[in-house]
Amino acid sequence: MKLCMIGTGYVGLVSGVCFSDLGNDVICVDKDIKKINNLKKGIIPIYEPGLEELVLKNYKNKRLNFSANLKDSVKKSDVVFICVGTPTKKNSNSADLTQVYDVVKAVSKSINKFKIIINKSTVPVTTGDELEKFISKKVKKKNFSVVSNPEFLREGEAIRDFIYPDRIIVGSNDSKSTRILKNLYAPLISKGAKFISTKRRAAELIKYASNAFLATKITFINEIANLCEKTGIDVEEISIGIGLDKRIGSRFLRAGPSYGGSCFPKDTKAIVSTAEKFKTNLSIIKSVIRSNNKRTVLLSKRLNLILKNKIKNKVISFLGVTFKANTDDMRDSSSLKLIPFLSKKGAKIKYYDPTGSKKEFKKIKNVEFSNSIQESIKGSDVVILHTEWNDFKSINFKKFTKNKKLIIYDMRNIYSPDKIKKLGFKYYGIGR
Ligand code: UDX
Repeated sequence: MKLCMIGTGYVGLVSGVCFSDLGNDVICVDKDIKKINNLKKGIIPIYEPGLEELVLKNYKNKRLNFSANLKDSVKKSDVVFICVGTPTKKNSNSADLTQVYDVVKAVSKSINKFKIIINKSTVPVTTGDELEKFISKKVKKKNFSVVSNPEFLREGEAIRDFIYPDRIIVGSNDSKSTRILKNLYAPLISKGAKFISTKRRAAELIKYASNAFLATKITFINEIANLCEKTGIDVEEISIGIGLDKRIGSRFLRAGPSYGGSCFPKDTKAIVSTAEKFKTNLSIIKSVIRSNNKRTVLLSKRLNLILKNKIKNKVISFLGVTFKANTDDMRDSSSLKLIPFLSKKGAKIKYYDPTGSKKEFKKIKNVEFSNSIQESIKGSDVVILHTEWNDFKSINFKKFTKNKKLIIYDMRNIYSPDKIKKLGFKYYGIGR
């Protein structure tokens, strides 16, 4: 099939490359010419394991191409995927659909034969209806179909998530488009992926409800972890104990810092805002957002307690600053609040991240990037483990520091408290 992916962010680029690897002709389009030229040279704008190899392979065999010419690319394609950002609006919780509408405006001027226009961007319920109305002002209804096909790709695992999805959701109000999409996804369906066809509005809501549910699950275990800290219980035992109940499930029950990233914070706010438009109160999700927002304050207070109110002049090694491991994404990472808090309190922070230094900390007092884990730990009073990269899992603390009073605050519970204590260091985790 001839496909056009508009937007070469996480979703567009990963999906486009994977579709081309499955044998389709794909053009990935972006208005950022520099990005397109770089992609043609094999320079990938994001950190995503395995992506570079797949781009190079499929660009070389000519199934994958890159272009800044949207209209021309749409004309050449049968199926057009909209994969642009839908950030939170300024001064409001709702999704900003400016980029989606800009794309749809251009697409509607380029419909030369029947096209399926697929929304992969996360958009509020009824957006598909609105887009259909918008396009039908210019194009005859028989010449296009608007479909919702949400993505469920996790950063750092995006390629695996694309190839082995738990389910493929296609929300369409016409059976012809559903049939064509089932055909497009046939190689994944034959490997066991479930293909679920729904009405368009349902697919839009499935995406938001999934992310809101996962954010709720994380927040739930984070709050249970707070109780564990007060009662001398290890939250890891609770996660295993409740997760084995198939009705609950063990995934997304890892207690840690506040959840972040490009989706959960934005999508929880947007679903609440959509519900308000329809006069519905999503009180659970509202409470999740509040709890997650307060989490960094809670962790800062605990750190203050651990250091007996003496953060001033402490040297802190901060390991991992992105919102989670295996990504270079800083969006809504709790480090963006934790590091400034520590700096304000007079600590000296030496941070290390496998994806390099971050512009976000350039102007913050007493914050510097270390070139290695060892450099970050050496001479530190405290190590804060913020993300669970494999690189951090078997650090030889004894070798890296002479400080016998080193305090380790393991915010992802990746270390064994007993082993750390045996080394003579002080250990604190989350909910343990
Ligand atoms: C998420 C969804 O998982 C994906 O389906 C959707 O399409 C995009 O948003 P992503 O943002 O890449 O993916 O990250 P994810 O792995 O879901 O983690 C989100 C946040 O939750 C991170 O801050 C992570 O550290 C946190 N998290 C996740 C926990 O704290 N505990 C867990 O058990 C799982």
